[in-house]
Amino acid sequence: MTPTIPPPPRAWSVTSLGPRAVRSPLGLSTVPDDEVPDYTEDGVRISFEIEHRLSEAEEDRTPSFEKAGPREKIFFEPERTRAGIVTCGGLCPGINNVVRSIVLQLVHKYGVREVLGFRYGYEGLDPDRMVQPDVLTPDAVRHIHHRGGTILGSSRGKRDAGAMVDVLEKHGVDILFAIGGDGTMRGAHAIHEEISRRGKSIAVVGVPKTIDNDVPYVDRSFGFETAVEMARMAIDAAHTEALSLRNGIGLVKLMGRDAGFIAASASLASHDVNVCLVPEVSFQLEGERGLLRYLERRLEARAHAVIVVAEGCGKQRGVDIGPWLKEHIESHFVEAGVSITLKYIDPSYMVRSGPANASDAVFCDALARHAVHAAMAGKTDIVIGRWHRAFTHVPLPLLMSAGSKEIDPDKQLWLSVIEATGQPHFGTVHARAKRKSAEPPPRKSGRD
Ligand code: F6P
Repeated sequence: MTPTIPPPPRAWSVTSLGPRAVRSPLGLSTVPDDEVPDYTEDGVRISFEIEHRLSEAEEDRTPSFEKAGPREKIFFEPERTRAGIVTCGGLCPGINNVVRSIVLQLVHKYGVREVLGFRYGYEGLDPDRMVQPDVLTPDAVRHIHHRGGTILGSSRGKRDAGAMVDVLEKHGVDILFAIGGDGTMRGAHAIHEEISRRGKSIAVVGVPKTIDNDVPYVDRSFGFETAVEMARMAIDAAHTEALSLRNGIGLVKLMGRDAGFIAASASLASHDVNVCLVPEVSFQLEGERGLLRYLERRLEARAHAVIVVAEGCGKQRGVDIGPWLKEHIESHFVEAGVSITLKYIDPSYMVRSGPANASDAVFCDALARHAVHAAMAGKTDIVIGRWHRAFTHVPLPLLMSAGSKEIDPDKQLWLSVIEATGQPHFGTVHARAKRKSAEPPPRKSGRD
C-alpha cells in the first residue's frame, strides 16, 4: 500500500553496522564530472513528495513544473472548437497512438466540432504546397494504433511561421497539436509567437517525440521503450552470430544522434554486450587502454565479443561509426595475424518504424489525453512532459533554452552499463572534466 502521510524524518534514516574502513574494489571515480561514474554519498536524498501546492498569489521559489491534467473550467467552448494535428520529423513507434487518442479524447470526451490532420509535417501548413488536411473522425482513426509510422505523413525542415498561421486561420483552427522533436518544438514556438503577435487565441500544444529519449525536462519520450526492445533483438542476433564462430564479433549500430540512451538501455536489456559506446563518453581505439587492445584480450579469453555503438559516436570523427569501426577492427586483426569474423548489423530504421509496444501504447494514450486537457484549458506554448512519473506542462521557451538531454557518465545508467558489460574506460579518464575548462581542476582520482 502507498503511504499517504509520511512518518517523521527519524523513521527515514538507515541503520548502518558501523564505520567503514575498507576501500571499495569497484574502482569508481572520485573526480567530479569525468567520464567514470562516481561513488554515491550518504548525504544525497530522494524527496518523498514530488508535488507541492501553491496558493494563487504565491510564486514558486523552487524549480517545478505545472502538473498536467483536466481542469474544472476550460477556455474553449467544445462545440465551437476545431483542432488540428501535425506530425513532424523522423518516425517513432506510437505516433499513430498519440494521434488516435487525441482525436478520441477531443471528440468523445470534450465534444469538439472537428479535428483536422495536416499532412506531411509543417509542409501541410505551407500554403504554397496546397496539401489539403484530412478530417480525423473517430472512425478514420479506428485502426491506426496498430500501425507504425504516421498516418498523417511527416517531414523535416523549417517553414515560415506567418504562412503557417495564415493556414491555421484559414481553416479556423483553435488548437494545434504538434507531435515532433526539437525542430518541431522550435516551429511550434514560432507559430505561437506569430499567433500572439496577431492577438489570436489559438493554443499550441506539443507532444515531444524522439526515439533518442533526449528531450530536456522530459524523463521519458514515447517510442523509446519499443525502440529498446527492437534494438535488443538486433543485439541478440549479433550475439548468436558471434557465439557461433571462433573469434566472432557482433557489431550493432543503433540510432542516437547526440545521446546514447538507446544503446545504453538496449545493452542493459540484452546483458550480452561486452562493449557499449555512446557519444557522451569518449573512446580511444589504439593504445594499451584502447578498444582494439581490449578486444584482443576479450577474444583470447572468451573467443567472441558483442559491441554496441551509438550513431552519435561518429560525429566527432565525422564518420558513419558502424562501418568505420568494422573496418578498423577488421584491419587491426589482419595486421595482428588473428583470424576473426565480424558481423555488422544496423537495425536503425527497423527499430523506429514499427508499432508501439504495450508500455508505449499506454504512455502515448496518457500523453495525448493530457495534451487535450491542457489545450482545452487554454494552455499554450507548452509540451506535455513527464517528470518523476508525473505528467507536466513544460513551457516551450524553457525546453528550448536547454541543450538535448544526455547520459550523465557519473550517474546510475552509465554505472549500470559498465558494471553489466564489464568494459573499462577506453579514453582519457578526465576527458569530460577537461572539456569543462571553466571549472576548477579536478581533485586527484582515487584510481590513478
Ligand atoms: O531523432 C531521431 C532519429 O531517429 C535519430 O536517432 C537519427 O539520427 C535521426 O532521427 C535520423 O533521421 P532521418 O534519417 O529520418 O533523417
